Amino acid sequence: MLKKKDLLGLYDTSAEEIAEILNEADKMRGFLSGKEKKSDLLAGRTLITLFYENSTRTRTSFELAGKYLGANEVNISAASSSVQKGETLIDTGETLDAMKIDFIAIRHPMAGAPKLLAEHVKASVLNGGDGMNEHPTQALLDMLALKRKFGKIEGLKVAILGDIKHSRVAKSNLFGLTKLGAEVVMYSPRTLMPRAIERLGAKIAKSREEAIDGADAVMGLRIQLERQNGGLFPSLSEYSKFYGVKDELMKYAKKNAVILHPGPVNRGVELTPSLIDGKSSEILEQVTCGVAVRAALLKLMAEYRMEKGL
Ligand code: CP
Repeated sequence: MLKKKDLLGLYDTSAEEIAEILNEADKMRGFLSGKEKKSDLLAGRTLITLFYENSTRTRTSFELAGKYLGANEVNISAASSSVQKGETLIDTGETLDAMKIDFIAIRHPMAGAPKLLAEHVKASVLNGGDGMNEHPTQALLDMLALKRKFGKIEGLKVAILGDIKHSRVAKSNLFGLTKLGAEVVMYSPRTLMPRAIERLGAKIAKSREEAIDGADAVMGLRIQLERQNGGLFPSLSEYSKFYGVKDELMKYAKKNAVILHPGPVNRGVELTPSLIDGKSSEILEQVTCGVAVRAALLKLMAEYRMEKGL
């Protein structure tokens, strides 16, 4: 059983815990393929999605995961909440906790906000992305898509290209993939590569060709203009020309290599439209896996809460 009240990141999640989540998520992926997406596994439990940043995939998939498993589900966006009146994150969390809820899925622009919240609430906190820190459920869904495609994670080479510096997705994938025995190779403009990333287990390539050479999966990352102060690359068209993943570069990858992207994609910037929509693209499968991973986490954490009498 997953022995965790909260899921804050993959840095502090063990290989065994990740494997358990992926096994459960694989079963949930099967459940999602059925016509009747209805279960009472979470009947009587309540999930709040508390999002201080925009989201389509993460928030909707948490909501659907909760609904499919029979939980009560409420959405709060910062724009329409008492945050606008100056309420602190801790006060918001304690207020929601007093309503006897079970889960809070939170997205916040500040790194560490989910941890701070988790320390002040009885509800289980699931990190839906905190600043430039981690996006653990995204990495788990990426790993689920890879596991389903290749049957394993161990021994895979995953090339991650794009805005590594501002990417919580890159960091969570680095932690998760290397714990399960994959090789992670990164490539970006020097201005978008964090200095100490090699110490966390990443290999840094000198070119796109070197990054993609022999890769099983090529992941493009979104250029995060909202987290940049500007001046990190000349223009989007030059970024695309010198750093984007183009069709002709895929000849360096393995024959059955897949294209991944966490979304939302800047079409023609990180990846060409033909790669996004092509036969090797697993981008929409990643989205489906996102619902499965979030459903699995809610189930496993509900079991833990039951055992602990929470
Ligand atoms: N990948 C991801 O986190 O997408 P959203 O911002 O749409 O949730």
